[in-house]
Amino acid sequence: TAPEMIKVEKKDKICLITLNRPKAMNSLCSQLITELSAELKQCDEDPEVRAIVITGSKKFFAAGADIKEMEERTYQENFAQNYLTNWFNVAATRKPTIAAVNGYALGGGCELAMMCDIILAGDKAQFGQPEIKLGTIPGAGGTQRLVKAIGKSRAMELVLTGDFMGAQEAQQRGLVSRVVAEDNLVEEAMNVAKKIAGYSLPMVMMAKECVNQSFETTLATGLLYERRMFHSTFAYFDRREGMSSFLNKKKPEFKDS
Ligand code: HXC
Repeated sequence: TAPEMIKVEKKDKICLITLNRPKAMNSLCSQLITELSAELKQCDEDPEVRAIVITGSKKFFAAGADIKEMEERTYQENFAQNYLTNWFNVAATRKPTIAAVNGYALGGGCELAMMCDIILAGDKAQFGQPEIKLGTIPGAGGTQRLVKAIGKSRAMELVLTGDFMGAQEAQQRGLVSRVVAEDNLVEEAMNVAKKIAGYSLPMVMMAKECVNQSFETTLATGLLYERRMFHSTFAYFDRREGMSSFLNKKKPEFKDS
């Protein structure tokens, strides 16, 4: 069945996913997350997709998990159903993901953006973890990924006060890679995706995996992981193609093999 809460467009080997639940500021109800994680899984399996862009509308990327849906939940249900584990499917996507964030990225919306590999922000974007105002705390990575992105003190301040942080500050602190004029944001994210899509997909996926290892392990283990992955790239046609093309001053033709 076709998804109802996300819009999916595939062209030029890029999958553009637009969160589309305007009546509730793209708040992330379980149907939306189910649709999104199913689509991402499908992108991983689809050889026609080489990069993924996730965006929302101009006013809101996503205003968090759906508060209406959460209101009646019990602890027992949360535990029994392991509530929110399906969110982690987003972070488990193996192909490169770019979040193009315009407007509000709050709570689960900020957490969703942080599960992507690169965040580009529109100049009016606002990031925050306001769960504390609802009598709860972040539940999909806000207390972990935000600290790694911007450091403890400011992350702690945002998580404990619920205040928002604008796009410029988010860039200065390293949460987002760049700030782009609101109207050009999606186009720019597509350009980044297209550039990545032009390279050897297994190399892109290995590079992504190595960068992500840096969040999981010690430096020595991470360096070993990287070195072994680097060694393995020499098993690929694409590695030889890339190097000999450079030396012969021609454009490489990668085959993903
Ligand atoms: C359900 C939401 C919503 C949300 C907004 N709406 N955010 N519904 N869940 N997270 C709905 C409002 O109820 C309202 O519905 C409509 O969207 C417009 O919102 P307003 O508040 O009237 O708009 P505005 O005054 O412009 O303020 C925008 C806003 C504010 C700053 C984004 O809506 C806001 O603070 N939203 C909540 C943000 C938040 O707390 N997020 C964290 C959620 S907890 P009606 O029917 O009145 O039109 C979370 C936990 C994560 O994410 C755990 C892991 C996933």
